[in-house]
Amino acid sequence: MEKIGPLHRRLPPSAADDQPACNDSTNPCFGELLTGIAAIPATRRRVLQGGLGSLALAFLGWIDLPSATAGGRPTLNFPALAAAREDAVRVADGHVLQLLYAWGDPVSDGPAFRSDAGNSAAEQAVQAGMHHDGMHFFPFSENGQASSTRGVLCINHEYTDEGLLHADGMAEWSHAKTIKSQNAHGVSVIEVELVGSGAERRWRVVRPSRYARRITARTPLRIAGPAAGAPAMRTRDDARGLVVFGTLANCAMGVTPWGTYLSCEENFNGYFNGLAQPTPEQQRYGIRRGGHGARWHEHDRRFDVASEANEANRFGWVVEIDPRQPTQAPVKRTALGRFKHESATVTLAADRRVVVYMGDDEAFEYIYKYVSDDPFPSSDPAGGGHLLDRGTLYVARFSADGRGRWLALQHGRNGLVAATGFADQADVLIRARQAADLVGATKMDRPEWIAVHPQTGEVYCTLTNNRRRSIADAANPRAPNAFGHIIRWREAGGDAAASDFSWDIFVLCGDPQNADAGQRGNIRGDAFGSPDGLWFDAQGRLWIQTDAPGAAIRSGDYERLGNNQVLVADVGSGEVRRFLSGPHGCEITGLTGTPDGCNLFVNIQHPGEAPGARADPARPLAISGWPANQFPEATGGRPRSATVVIRRRDGRVVAG
Ligand code: FEO
Ligand code: CA
Ligand code: CA
Repeated sequence: MEKIGPLHRRLPPSAADDQPACNDSTNPCFGELLTGIAAIPATRRRVLQGGLGSLALAFLGWIDLPSATAGGRPTLNFPALAAAREDAVRVADGHVLQLLYAWGDPVSDGPAFRSDAGNSAAEQAVQAGMHHDGMHFFPFSENGQASSTRGVLCINHEYTDEGLLHADGMAEWSHAKTIKSQNAHGVSVIEVELVGSGAERRWRVVRPSRYARRITARTPLRIAGPAAGAPAMRTRDDARGLVVFGTLANCAMGVTPWGTYLSCEENFNGYFNGLAQPTPEQQRYGIRRGGHGARWHEHDRRFDVASEANEANRFGWVVEIDPRQPTQAPVKRTALGRFKHESATVTLAADRRVVVYMGDDEAFEYIYKYVSDDPFPSSDPAGGGHLLDRGTLYVARFSADGRGRWLALQHGRNGLVAATGFADQADVLIRARQAADLVGATKMDRPEWIAVHPQTGEVYCTLTNNRRRSIADAANPRAPNAFGHIIRWREAGGDAAASDFSWDIFVLCGDPQNADAGQRGNIRGDAFGSPDGLWFDAQGRLWIQTDAPGAAIRSGDYERLGNNQVLVADVGSGEVRRFLSGPHGCEITGLTGTPDGCNLFVNIQHPGEAPGARADPARPLAISGWPANQFPEATGGRPRSATVVIRRRDGRVVAG
């Protein structure tokens, strides 16, 4: 989510970022000159990616996306959508749109959404959460092929707007409201299928479904990896430090070769009521008095740091969920480090070790990667979770000469020893930000989603914006950075496990008509700002989703850019074309598609969000009436985050 505004006490808990940036380390912006970078063999990654998808998921009966046009040039075969300002989803001509799954819809055969926000906490626990974010379609296997008509969607629910969640907002804040709020967080797992024929074909949620599941901020999760059981992970409720109740602030995502979903805990800090005098560790993670105003701590002492000092250490992790095992507890994989996780994008190294790229979305935070100790075994593609428990976490240093290095966050290396305050590897991982400070990582302009090109292995990362930057550097070349940019890198030797890389900037976002030449950017095509979601389709087209702040959109520097939107880029030519535009007060996030490329799922997050504030419960429709104003079949009464599906009228590949 975008985070801006002077009124953080009134903001939804994870939408506030008016606090000072947490990183006051004196890290240099650039490291020493590095040598020895080799070019990527262009064909190598294609082989690895193909193996990753088809082998692992076919074995499981869950087949990943084959590349229909691997090796060919991607096409942007659709007319550009003009920048739009309406309170509706608009999509490029030739495509049709349907509503699939909105906040409050039952995951299975549960209770229906009530337009007056009258659903109870228990009902919310079996309905779609609020604020849909990262998402992935896991196709069923049909006759050994990946289905493009049936599968399971995993959908993150990042945060809540209490002004819409409860009929009277935060008035008379109660235990019941706290539980309902917790139950509106987490992840949905729903079964979906395409039914009908011809122009009448539509996606529907399968109800009931044996896969349907809600994971909330109250669901028991297992803790695994080096920090499991560490003293700093133990609480009164969990004396062994092995089980935590819930996941929250679930932002972007990842998918493993063994067919599981990774959900990333981002702005967890805002849910905790911190100490008047926070410790340096708490300060570094933004755990402060009052948090972001969630007020959970008033009815759940876990979220009051004065009452439960270690609970906050149990959030800020990557969570692994097996969509095929609806009764299995999800797992927090601590080897991947603790920070405000935006994404966890998985690929394989040349020797089949598992590599996970991750962003920490806050101004001046870092980009990380994890490399497993052991390779993903082609002989046992079903078993891979343990590979996320034993490995090395690295953080990126970008040098001014276009080279970079991955710096290991491993106890005993790079100064991470007892004398510098790190007791062991669990300590390094729980305080990963501070470990990254010590080794000299590069402060970036809010790293959000990361995507790996399916053919070349190049890695792309959105740096959404950073209005606080006062000194530019090569990797973050604008101060302040109002529009954001997309950086990319090539690992040495084309091996994702490499220690070195070379990098450049794919695009500087902006408006070419901006009066300030420094804000115009260098986009070849349609103008946009604040890139956030990022996804490569099988053709190698880069899908960019934007999250410009509500206070900026359709005004000032963003006046000509329209509502938040989706654009498609040909990374070879650099051409960028607008494909979709969202309703008022929303961001767009969470793209995923079917294996045949003919169905695109998109999440419309927080329509109706008031700039810098929670919605007014007395006027829930003040900002937006979506989706009921566009889809008559939707229950209205208040704006609702939702998953929509896009198909081409002629049934062919979307935008192809
Ligand atoms: Fe949840 Fe950084 O967006
Ligand atoms: Ca985001
Ligand atoms: Ca964002």
